[in-house]
Amino acid sequence: MEKRINDLIANMTLEEKASLCSGVGAWHTKAIERLDIPAIMMSDGPHGLRKVIEDDENGNQTLESVCFPPAVNLASSWDRDLVKQVGQILGETCQAEGISIILGPAANIKRSPLCGRNFEYFSEDPYLSSEMANAHITGVQSQGVGTSLKHFAANNQEHMRMSINAHIDERTLREIYLNSFERSVKEAKPWTLMCAYNKINDIFCSEHQELLTGILRDEWGYEGLVVSDWGAVNERVDALQAGLELEMPSSDGIGEKKIIEAVKAGILKESTLDHAVRMILNLVFKALENKRTFHAYDKNQDHSKAQKVAEESMVLLRNKDHILPIKESKKIAVIGEFAKKPRYQGGGSSHIKSFKVDTPLDEIKKLATDADVEYAQGYDINTDEIDNTYIEEAKEKAQQSELTIVFAGLPERYESEGYDRTHLKLPPNHNRLIEEVAKVQENIIVVLSNGSPVEIPWINSVKGILEAYLGGQGMGRAVANLIFGKSNPCGKLAETFAVRLNHNPSYLNFPGEGDQVHYAEGIFVGYRYYEKKEINPLFPFGFGLSYTSFDYSQLRADKTEITDEETLQVSFKVKNTGKMQGKEIVQLYVAKPETKIIRPLKELKGFAKVELEPGQEKAVTIELNKRSFAYYNTAIKDWHVESGDYHILIGASSADIRLQTTVSVTSTVKIKPFYHRNTTIGELMEDPKAKPVIEQMAQQITKGMGLSDISKENPAIALNMVRYLPLRGLINFSKGAFTEAILEEILDKLNRN
Ligand code: BGC
Repeated sequence: MEKRINDLIANMTLEEKASLCSGVGAWHTKAIERLDIPAIMMSDGPHGLRKVIEDDENGNQTLESVCFPPAVNLASSWDRDLVKQVGQILGETCQAEGISIILGPAANIKRSPLCGRNFEYFSEDPYLSSEMANAHITGVQSQGVGTSLKHFAANNQEHMRMSINAHIDERTLREIYLNSFERSVKEAKPWTLMCAYNKINDIFCSEHQELLTGILRDEWGYEGLVVSDWGAVNERVDALQAGLELEMPSSDGIGEKKIIEAVKAGILKESTLDHAVRMILNLVFKALENKRTFHAYDKNQDHSKAQKVAEESMVLLRNKDHILPIKESKKIAVIGEFAKKPRYQGGGSSHIKSFKVDTPLDEIKKLATDADVEYAQGYDINTDEIDNTYIEEAKEKAQQSELTIVFAGLPERYESEGYDRTHLKLPPNHNRLIEEVAKVQENIIVVLSNGSPVEIPWINSVKGILEAYLGGQGMGRAVANLIFGKSNPCGKLAETFAVRLNHNPSYLNFPGEGDQVHYAEGIFVGYRYYEKKEINPLFPFGFGLSYTSFDYSQLRADKTEITDEETLQVSFKVKNTGKMQGKEIVQLYVAKPETKIIRPLKELKGFAKVELEPGQEKAVTIELNKRSFAYYNTAIKDWHVESGDYHILIGASSADIRLQTTVSVTSTVKIKPFYHRNTTIGELMEDPKAKPVIEQMAQQITKGMGLSDISKENPAIALNMVRYLPLRGLINFSKGAFTEAILEEILDKLNRN
């Protein structure tokens, strides 16, 4: 293959090479007939296949396919195997439909709940997000189909998404925004990676040499291709030089013309172009090599899988008086237009034309065979207007029922790719409906459909809340199965639900001003912020109820002391203590109780999903390594472990820690301090080698500063008073005893030590 590609490059004209660096139309790479180079096709996803079969004046016509639950649901399943299975099905579908690359998954962090594309993103936590992306990519690529991990990086809002300049400090970028991609880039090796539209610290991602080459390739060892988000190229030549090989979609010859001119003018090295061509040819031939000749996929079977995935990803948020699962109910009222016309996916490029959709109302009727099920529309999904006729009808049906199920949530116009929300409220007609129905019926279960958190003002007026998110085309069956107890809810939140929008850490800086946004909250995204500030959320990160109960016990780590080069095996037991089979998502957080570093109270570093029969107990083992304890140290530009004690916390959610142990971790990397004229006395005192030198000089310094009386009485106070004195101050205060030459000599000695 390498030889073939080398020969091809040697035979290509400059024009042919340049032409290969951008696509044809929206979805294909270029073919060069003269050299037998075929085109490959890519298509959106990533929770189903959105293959455009015809582009005409009426818009895109897309293939009918199976709409799986989007990333918001997949992440709430916390189930690596399940997400991998979804990936496998997507891969099979792509094979059958001649698609070489599916454009996803998207691993951007949910910085604000307002981001219009949050439904496409996994989590506010980079570890969970990266694990989910990892599983997704592994699944798709196991079928010989490539993925495009997107949008690299820090595409965390839709507002001004093509030009916004995200100002992010280095540590935050590393620990949160890049961290969400890093593991899946290294482990799952996506065939392609899609660069984001936005700028990071003044540079467009498409032209970000440090991002696309320095970090991605040199540091993380990425060997796949970098493709632009659709239209993300600003200056084609700069992008090519930064490491962006393929421009998508076609720029109608503009991009290639610029490349040709730049090579001719000596601005762009032909070897840089050759490298990009090599990467593109690698991808094309890899895709061809992996193409299968047999085409088999069964949409109905995949639909059943979509139902199952939805079930495993919905989150039971409230279950007062054990109203759920529904027991014997002879009269049930189902209210809300979403029960007939469910909102089950988000808007924009990931929108799938579903080949069939389960209707919640029908699915409920199928399971409530002995009950009389009445429906009332409750609101009109096309408007926010409160319509009293609908509400009165709903109240009447609710009053006559023993139990009322209300379907509410965000209509598509509220959240989509392309724009952000400005508030977290449900439509007024949904809220009013629930408040009014609650006046006549106390047994209310609300099923929510939304791609990102909402405020829940009526929480205390209802007994049950099932967060269905956007459950894909099988959500209707999944909801019915869960509320009637055919299955046990086992999803947990991959994001925090704040009580109010202004509790969110990004609130003061979202979506920014003009085309500038400052990530001023730094690393304190999501639960990292709420915990540190002691702000109680409505529902914490990692939270979700079950119809059964679980006990945690016997936590042990295989060592009590490790170095940062060793791994630690943490094991514990989980037991199903209830009467129903269920699955528990167990979460491992790491905390550093004593630290000199500004860090969150704790961070997620491991998790597992455990299936248990009633009474059954299983052991869980989670391995921790250096990264589980490290923070990104900008001085050494590397991950670093502060030596000392760490708490290992095992919880059912971030707010429900059940077990705890301590381990001591010692860093094998010594960070050598660098001392200079403005190093303070206090900083020097922290260095055991420098401390005696300073103590010796203390008398002299305090005298020079006119503090010798204090110094005599209480040397400790005197020392404290000079703590912030920079070393250069010694020259002024020592009355000539301390000179520039002496300072230089001391600094030299200290730095050499
Ligand atoms: C989106 C990508 C998508 C691409 C192709 C862009 O606008 O940001 O996520 O894959 O369009 O449709």
